[in-house]
Amino acid sequence: MSVSLDEIVPFGRSLAEYRLMFNLTDTDLEQKILDCGTGPASFNAELSAQGKSVVSVDPIYQFSGAQIQARFNACRDNVIAQVAATPENWVWTFHRDPEDLKQHRIAAMERFVADFESRGDGLRQAPKNRYRRAELPQLPFADNVFDLALCSHLLFLYSDLLSLDFHVRSILELCRLAPEVRIFPLRTLASLASPYVEPVREALLQHGIHSEIREVGYELQKGGNQMLKIWRSQTQ
Ligand SMILES: C[S@@+](CC[C@H](N)C(=O)[O-])C[C@H]1O[C@@H](n2cnc3c(N)ncnc32)[C@H](O)[C@@H]1O
Repeated sequence: MSVSLDEIVPFGRSLAEYRLMFNLTDTDLEQKILDCGTGPASFNAELSAQGKSVVSVDPIYQFSGAQIQARFNACRDNVIAQVAATPENWVWTFHRDPEDLKQHRIAAMERFVADFESRGDGLRQAPKNRYRRAELPQLPFADNVFDLALCSHLLFLYSDLLSLDFHVRSILELCRLAPEVRIFPLRTLASLASPYVEPVREALLQHGIHSEIREVGYELQKGGNQMLKIWRSQTQ
């Protein structure tokens, strides 16, 4: 398992953004959470600082915090310039404008690196247990060890790079680990509806797994205000 940092744009979001992207309630946040593809988001750092249970997996955790931050610094201005050059593709509600977006991403990165490189403290588990180097479609956990699995800005977003088969296998893997999975957004990088959403839902149904598209209170990509909620039992 190896990934080149040059192939990755390590942009991460905050706990406030995760709450909105996934419609996370206070009750949801009390659960044992797996966040797949956390990258340099500050979600884990912020939530575990509150004593909550969250494990992040990402192949970039093979690198040091300094290396991840250097890659972020190298692509940051280019990404923000691309956003500024395509105003028709973005909605400025959570962030005020491209500069505000950049400052949020810098803050999330700094919070992540400080936590990732820390030794931990009495309240939260040590970072080495909360940030695990691993990647879909196979994760190193026993069945059902989590209550809720999240995945943001990876599946569906990279529909041009990741096959339908990869999506199905990855989501089945997340369903093996938790009875409920939430994925956001359902748009591609080009801000188009992912062609995989309905085929994935049909494939999941063949395995007795149900799903529903839910509107959420977060929209940065225009039209990107939906998540897929997936569950194994019929009780929800
Ligand atoms: C755009 S970032 C999103 C970070 C975070 N989830 C957020 O929304 O702020 C996508 C992340 O997915 C990770 N990634 C790429 N391939 C992966 C795989 N096969 N399994 C798990 N994570 C992967 C990348 O390393 C990167 O950190």
